[in-house]
Amino acid sequence: MSNRRKIYEGKAKTLYEGPQPGTLIQHFKDDATAGNGKKHEIIDGKGVLNNRISEYIFSNLNRLGIQTHFIRRLNMREQLIKEVEIIPLEIIVRNFAAGSLVKRLGLEHGTRLPRSIIEFCYKDDDLGDPLVSEEHITAFGWASPAELDDIMSIAVRVNDFLVGLFMGVGIQLVDFKIEVGRHFEGDLMRIIVADEISPDSCRLWDIKTNRKLDKDLFREGSEGMIDAYREVAQRLGILNETENALSTGPRLVT
Ligand code: TMP
Repeated sequence: MSNRRKIYEGKAKTLYEGPQPGTLIQHFKDDATAGNGKKHEIIDGKGVLNNRISEYIFSNLNRLGIQTHFIRRLNMREQLIKEVEIIPLEIIVRNFAAGSLVKRLGLEHGTRLPRSIIEFCYKDDDLGDPLVSEEHITAFGWASPAELDDIMSIAVRVNDFLVGLFMGVGIQLVDFKIEVGRHFEGDLMRIIVADEISPDSCRLWDIKTNRKLDKDLFREGSEGMIDAYREVAQRLGILNETENALSTGPRLVT
């Protein structure tokens, strides 16, 4: 593994050159960060769970015709993906008020929004990923107006799918973040979903109790993050029911 060419190392994932041109290997690390990297811990098994949860979600999106960079899972921590030109935006879809929206607008935490709301943040760690408007995006050329239409349509479709998926296993999708990129096939360019979708990038609450099952547990310094991620995987049918009792980290069904 050490002779592979590293293309990019982020906070929670590393990208390596893939086996064929136009492919990359996405490696999920156990690193958890919050507050733009100010808080940092290694959470044993997180990378393995996120690899599997993201695989499950991206495979389903691909099947539904919502194209993603996911090709196939290679092993416990890695997946083969299509190389894309990442658009420097975090695309956030919100169904309930939480996180930065509550701080910004003074809404009551957990209130259902009048409709799903899409927000954009400019991906720049030094600036703390600031919220930006469609005007900024098109004026600075981060995406064209036509691309922005595609991005918003993808965001809505991903939200519709995820809301239903999680609802089916007793989880409320409060909000989530996706990243997208340009994928080139000959002369054709298409915007596809990239990065990951996992409890690192979603707010997930148990429908009955509002218990948090996502990275907010880490952000808030609460216990039980890895158990929550394992529960999400189990509810989605990715892990065996019997593994509920295991305390030695995620043992996965292949
Ligand atoms: P926020 O309320 O902090 O703006 O986050 C909204 C959603 O986006 C939440 O599900 C967490 C996710 N998110 C990320 O995955 N990465 C990020 O860098 C940020 C700011 C949010």
